[in-house]
Amino acid sequence: MLESIPPREEDKILRLMKLFADDPRVGKIDLGVGVYHDADGRTPIFSAVKQAEQRLIETQESKGYVGLAGDPAFHRAMAGLVLGDLAETMPFAACGTPGGTGAVRQGFELMKLAGNPQRRIWLPDPSWINHGSILDTLGIPRADYRYYDAETGGVDADGMLADLAKAAPGDVVLLHGCCHNPTGADMKAQDWAALTKLLAERGLTPFVDLAYQGFGDGVEADVSGLRTMVAALPETIITVSASKNFGLYRERVGCVLAPCADPKARDMTHAALAWLNRQNYAFPPDHGARVVTTILTDTGLRADWQDELDGMRARMKENRTALAGELRRLTGSDRFGFLQSHKGMFTVLGLSTEQVLTLRKEHGLYMVEDSRINLAGLTDATIPPAAEAIAAVL
Ligand code: LMR
Repeated sequence: MLESIPPREEDKILRLMKLFADDPRVGKIDLGVGVYHDADGRTPIFSAVKQAEQRLIETQESKGYVGLAGDPAFHRAMAGLVLGDLAETMPFAACGTPGGTGAVRQGFELMKLAGNPQRRIWLPDPSWINHGSILDTLGIPRADYRYYDAETGGVDADGMLADLAKAAPGDVVLLHGCCHNPTGADMKAQDWAALTKLLAERGLTPFVDLAYQGFGDGVEADVSGLRTMVAALPETIITVSASKNFGLYRERVGCVLAPCADPKARDMTHAALAWLNRQNYAFPPDHGARVVTTILTDTGLRADWQDELDGMRARMKENRTALAGELRRLTGSDRFGFLQSHKGMFTVLGLSTEQVLTLRKEHGLYMVEDSRINLAGLTDATIPPAAEAIAAVL
């Protein structure tokens, strides 16, 4: 039986990690997978995480099961971080998941449980590669809406609204909460407001994937658009990752939050999420979730975490400015000026696949085939050679 399983297409982002590791060249540069690197090329453990883990080692008395949906204290802490005061006033369903990808998967499965096999989910064009892949695996119909305007390097707000006006009532619209992956182009406050109005008028449900809170303009600023939307609509599905903003990648910390104006809908959603956890893996991982809860509920640890996160964001912004400056100097044009208006870890440079492959082969510069780069992969030392390589393939 097993030999009859057809090979699956490998994820392009993860394949790149292996290609990079196998490249023996000194001076190779990894701008592939969305993992933060510091100025020394390390992916550090946050000091607040170390401290919280120490506390857990000293105080935790049991590793017994928690609950199918995870720890309610974790739900409250994450809801506070994402929704702010709304978490106090609006009922919300929640469940812990193995990372943000686990949350996305559970959120999509939740859509299936809500019936209506014709219900489509609308994805921004482009979106994170795995969104479409998971939907296809689950057999959920999908459609694309215009999102990125390669001419301006910004969001094609008119195109987005025009396409979503064609969605059928009951359809779901996937949005990136901040730091759009892969493009780096985020919606402005007026775009969130216009979209909220359209979703309300057309009876569409937002599904907001939030994997980079704190990497754009700040922990609060990055969710202001999302909060306006949540406050105005009867229900929102939010999938959250703590991989990046807590640096807890391998611990798999994520959750689904579903604010619902109707308490009955909240109870049903909460029960459905716990049931889905049971079907897929029973209990969600606890260690990383408990570390996050410890940090968010302790004033000192929280301040420490926020400082470190602010420093990471500042470094990524500096890298953007420096790379944009080098490219301006080398090309004598502002062709890559959009680098500085983009948010978070990523930017799509707008290069062809052929150019990307030449960069990989001839210059040891690794980026995803759609020419997405991870700004945190650059250092003061690698910005000049990276810019030279890019300018050389234009
Ligand atoms: C990325 O987009 O590089 C990250 O979200 C890592 C992943 O799982 O793809």
